[in-house]
Amino acid sequence: MAKLINIPVVHDKRGNLSVIEGNRNIPFNIKRVYYLYDVPGGAKRGGHAHRKLKQLIIAASGSFDVVLHNGKEKETFTLNRSNVGLYVPQMTWREIENFSSGAVCLVLASKHYDESDYIRNFKEFKKLTES
Ligand code: TYD
Repeated sequence: MAKLINIPVVHDKRGNLSVIEGNRNIPFNIKRVYYLYDVPGGAKRGGHAHRKLKQLIIAASGSFDVVLHNGKEKETFTLNRSNVGLYVPQMTWREIENFSSGAVCLVLASKHYDESDYIRNFKEFKKLTES
């Protein structure tokens, strides 16, 4: 199930430091990190699900909405804090939209990039969640 995860913050007068440790404060080991930035106004990212991949999505800067669909229900999460991550399990359709200017979407992933893990057709995704 998708859920918001609070990321610990070490705060002092020099600023904030947040830390994420694989299999400690998130439920998977981190094999890959990527980030979306310089997203043009009005652009949408995502539009797919993953068969096995688990991810944590963080608004490292700025804000955006993550719209999730588990095959039955749709839920929208607005991410706008650097110390909150959205855990997105396998078999979850996602769209990312409403990027603020300067937004950075940081993604931690449980596996290396593998195109065969993607489901890019929503009808196919729905069918797979029903079976
Ligand atoms: P995609 O995952 O569809 O983007 P998003 O979900 O953020 O909208 O990936 C876009 C392109 O980037 C696609 O051609 C595959 C490539 N890509 C990699 O080569 N490695 C990666 O780790 C990722 C996430 C994407």
